[in-house]
Amino acid sequence: MRAAIAGWGVALPDGRLTNADLERLVDTSDRWIVERTGIRERRIASPDETTASLATEAGAAAIKSAGLTPVDVDLLIIATATPEQPIPHTAAFVGDSLGLRCGSFDINAGCAGFVYELVAGGALLSSGGLEHVLVIGAETLSRVIDPTDRATCVLFGDAAAALVLEAGPDDGPGLLAFDLGCDGSLAGLLGVRAGGSRQPTTVETLAEGLQYLQMHGPEVFRRAVRVVVDSANATLGRAGVASSSVDWFVPHQANARIIDAVAQRLGIPAERTIVNIDHYGNTSAASIPLALAEAADAGRLRPGDLVLFSGFGAGMTWGSALMRWGRP
Ligand code: ACO
Repeated sequence: MRAAIAGWGVALPDGRLTNADLERLVDTSDRWIVERTGIRERRIASPDETTASLATEAGAAAIKSAGLTPVDVDLLIIATATPEQPIPHTAAFVGDSLGLRCGSFDINAGCAGFVYELVAGGALLSSGGLEHVLVIGAETLSRVIDPTDRATCVLFGDAAAALVLEAGPDDGPGLLAFDLGCDGSLAGLLGVRAGGSRQPTTVETLAEGLQYLQMHGPEVFRRAVRVVVDSANATLGRAGVASSSVDWFVPHQANARIIDAVAQRLGIPAERTIVNIDHYGNTSAASIPLALAEAADAGRLRPGDLVLFSGFGAGMTWGSALMRWGRP
């Protein structure tokens, strides 16, 4: 059996943070942000929007788009680096809001989280016994960003996007090949240092701002281009597909310059690369399914198209997956 995409949905906060807004908050400029990142605005959750509320909205839309009702969902997976709270897992809240009582778990693989959950959900579907798996990438990165740190506050946004995976025939559309990896020796490049077992939150950690995301941006940039290209090539090699046959490349939206450099090295032209970073910034685990859902809603994807996903993020994780587009 092969896992194919039966439906999709997104949730975007109404709140927008433009580059002009950021110019008033930190020492930056619209020109720097656009030239160095490609970002023009991001969505920011209101105080009553959370990772779980956005995930619920996206998940409900995906279930509806698949022509299903919540009772049809056999497993729920949420990829997030900004969970609802440390315990329990975010999927507990989302499953309850959607009226699900099936099994559920979270995946924290940073911005590669969506590819990880796609592969995990697809593998569980292929093993039999399940018919539909709901996978959701959901983030409220604004809750862990230091609003005074210009190196990070210009980059990130909030969003959720969901897919319903459905088991279909072996020769039908769906997941063809994947590659996952993580080099934990690079964990220090990007992360939130306090609030866990290693460094519980204290008055001192709060005073040091360790509840906020810290990142060595240029080092992440250099590594990202290399690992994403290698991972995408490994995936294409496993499927026996040349990059020239890829119809759509849907990369993690972290930086337009990373996307350009990766696509160029893979030999995939700009017109076949899906980019929406200008509207949303880096929404971590939500970014790939959000870009995919927008492209699908715009009618850009045709049944039979080969779609390549690639992401990288905190860990340092990476992951790629190749799918043949089409409802099962
Ligand atoms: N506005 C104006 N100037 C700035 C800003 C800003 N917002 N931020 C940094 N600068 C300055 C720096 O201070 C530096 O000044 P200096 O030369 O006087 O020291 C200069 O601009 C260049 O800074 P760099 O950090 O070298 O700029 P770079 O071109 O590398 O761009 C960026 C920085 C955008 C962060 C880039 O490195 C990047 O995108 N890295 C990858 C980040 C990423 O992909 N993260 C994904 C994982 S996220 C996850 O898993 C949750």
